[in-house]
Amino acid sequence: MKRKRLIRVAPSINAIDFNNEEILLKALKDIEKAGANFVHIDVMDGKFVKSKTFDYTFVDKIRDKTHLLFDVHLMVKDPDNDIDKYIKAGADIVTVHYEACKDVVSVLKKIKSRNVLAGIAISPNTPVLKIKDIIESKLVDVITVMSVEPGASGQKFIPKMAEKISEIRELNKRVFIEIDGGVNLSNASMLRKLGVNILVSGSCIFKSTDMKKTINALKGKGFFNQVKDFFN
Ligand code: DX5
Ligand code: ZN
Repeated sequence: MKRKRLIRVAPSINAIDFNNEEILLKALKDIEKAGANFVHIDVMDGKFVKSKTFDYTFVDKIRDKTHLLFDVHLMVKDPDNDIDKYIKAGADIVTVHYEACKDVVSVLKKIKSRNVLAGIAISPNTPVLKIKDIIESKLVDVITVMSVEPGASGQKFIPKMAEKISEIRELNKRVFIEIDGGVNLSNASMLRKLGVNILVSGSCIFKSTDMKKTINALKGKGFFNQVKDFFN
């Protein structure tokens, strides 16, 4: 029998008021209780993307507030010199943008050599073919398909980006594929079928009234969701 692929869910705390400590700590506890697998941490530098969020000091500050793994998404220009700071602060996956690095291969090598998972993200305008060699190599553990322009939570999913999942899966059967941006209960089932492994979701999770139910539905867990998948 074919083993069922596990779907991991990574709530993005970019969707909440992360500067409010009370809200932040509650959110971390809530997603942990609700069955999330990672905390997705969006670092924005005000250069690679217009918005600015926080740096490694934030990661350090929240590291002991949850048992969840940290999925750190660096929307940062030339992240090379910061990598070690994020790892020291507690990142479990460090993802850099293909478009933001001068020498992405050397950045990925550095991440991998530190024994954490290395990720590469591609913005909507970057075709999969641009990173074909990297996908086929052993340099990366996670490929993040951006399904919105990087920079903000709450944007609409760009349907065409889903095709990138199949393209990546063709090139590498084992790599973890993550999709980030506008993921919700209407597109999750389609994304699972295409072969995604990690669903990042901000607004859909934090706006829901029952986080556990929402996370389970994103994972396609439970009888009702399985029946829905069958007919989709
Ligand atoms: C966009 C970020 C996403 C975003 C996801 O730049 O990388 O992680 O916060 O939020 P939603 O799910 O609301 O699109
Ligand atoms: Zn992200």
